Amino acid sequence: MINTPRISVRPDHPDFVDLDWSRPISEWTSSRLVSMPEGIHRHPVVFVAYSQGIYAIKELPIRFARHEFETLGALEEITSHVAVPVGLVERPWIDKDSESSGTVITAYVSHAFPYRHLVSGHDFGQRRDALLDAFAGLLVELHLHGFYWGDCSLSNTLYRWDASSIEAVMIDAETSSIYSQLSKGQRLEDLAIMELNVAGEMADIAAEHGVSIDDADLALGSDITARYVTLWDELTTSLIVTAGDHYRIRHRIERLNTLGFAVDSIDLIPVDDGVNVKMRVRVGGRQYHSERLRQMVGIDTSENQARSILSDIAYHEAKVGSTSATRRSVGTMNWRSQVLEPLIDEISVDLPDQPVYQAYCDFLAYRLRVATERSRDVDNNEAYEAWKAAGFPRFKGSDHPSTEQR
Ligand SMILES: Nc1ncnc2c1ncn2[C@@H]1O[C@H](COP(=O)(O)OP(=O)(O)O)[C@@H](O)[C@H]1O
Ligand SMILES: [Mg+2]
Repeated sequence: MINTPRISVRPDHPDFVDLDWSRPISEWTSSRLVSMPEGIHRHPVVFVAYSQGIYAIKELPIRFARHEFETLGALEEITSHVAVPVGLVERPWIDKDSESSGTVITAYVSHAFPYRHLVSGHDFGQRRDALLDAFAGLLVELHLHGFYWGDCSLSNTLYRWDASSIEAVMIDAETSSIYSQLSKGQRLEDLAIMELNVAGEMADIAAEHGVSIDDADLALGSDITARYVTLWDELTTSLIVTAGDHYRIRHRIERLNTLGFAVDSIDLIPVDDGVNVKMRVRVGGRQYHSERLRQMVGIDTSENQARSILSDIAYHEAKVGSTSATRRSVGTMNWRSQVLEPLIDEISVDLPDQPVYQAYCDFLAYRLRVATERSRDVDNNEAYEAWKAAGFPRFKGSDHPSTEQR
């Protein structure tokens, strides 16, 4: 009776009672254990497979486990770029300060890879920009919501292809805290920690590749900060608009939407005796396009995939000439049943192991390439045959790292 674990699990997941909680996870021999790519970490981590999916289990002192579980839960409310917490397991018979007194279970972030896969390749150059943007964007989004990371690093984040861009997903919240709002000092401190961590990580990679520290990409962290500052200012600076210039408000909103941020509310405050108005915007999560696509056709994708797919819908509508709102919504439904679904079915058969909407975006990029080469419109059947014949190439120039264990 003494070795009974306290397991709390969210609904719709396994109960995990079949795992051998009486022993540390590093001693497990369960047939559910699977080997997955993993980054640098200090606590033991294992991955287990159930019919509901794969889960990451991390072992750490119970108070840290509880804190991480709760923080990830709070973050999940504000962003989709975070690992989903699933369960918390306590071993009450073990001293509460011991490393193995608690574990956090998170849903495995599928089709993601650690940063090492991204920066170690010889052609990192063209991926560097995408990594910087994804990372800076994630940090801005978290800071906007009052989240202080405390240990922001490349290895506490996973990466996924997102159309031609990269999506960064935060996985390690052990050192973090959530406030109603962050002060500038807190944000700068978080950025300083990030720069230090990233420099260490880049120095490690250089050493691993036998490259001298002088040639390591030590500027990566400060480049992330530079992008962070630009994006932060763009999102938070108030705009003074003169009467007759109200179109600038619309431009500002469009610009924020282009960056992927949904606008939650706009405050317009009269200033200068009412001659001008000061505009302050409150932005929501970075899911503007994915939210729009979900509302329009009910499919869930990541932000840049949604952007590509929305362009495809617009292209389809332009071709069939839907102009009125009613015809457009009928057109969108036709696009779903006649264009998207047949292609998704084919992709699922031809590329069963790949994330299907990412593959669809790869196809869209290929269709554009073929149409450009042939200087004419290419229909989907013709483009798909060409894509298949070419071996299903992905976005031009991006040699996607695999998610296999290296
Ligand atoms: N939900 C998850 N999905 C995929 N990989 C994960 C997940 N959680 C952890 N990992 C992998 O395990 C490693 C360690 O996780 P992390 O939470 O950073 O542990 P630590 O606190 O020990 O640093 C990560 O680098 C990542 O590769
Ligand atoms: Mg970590």
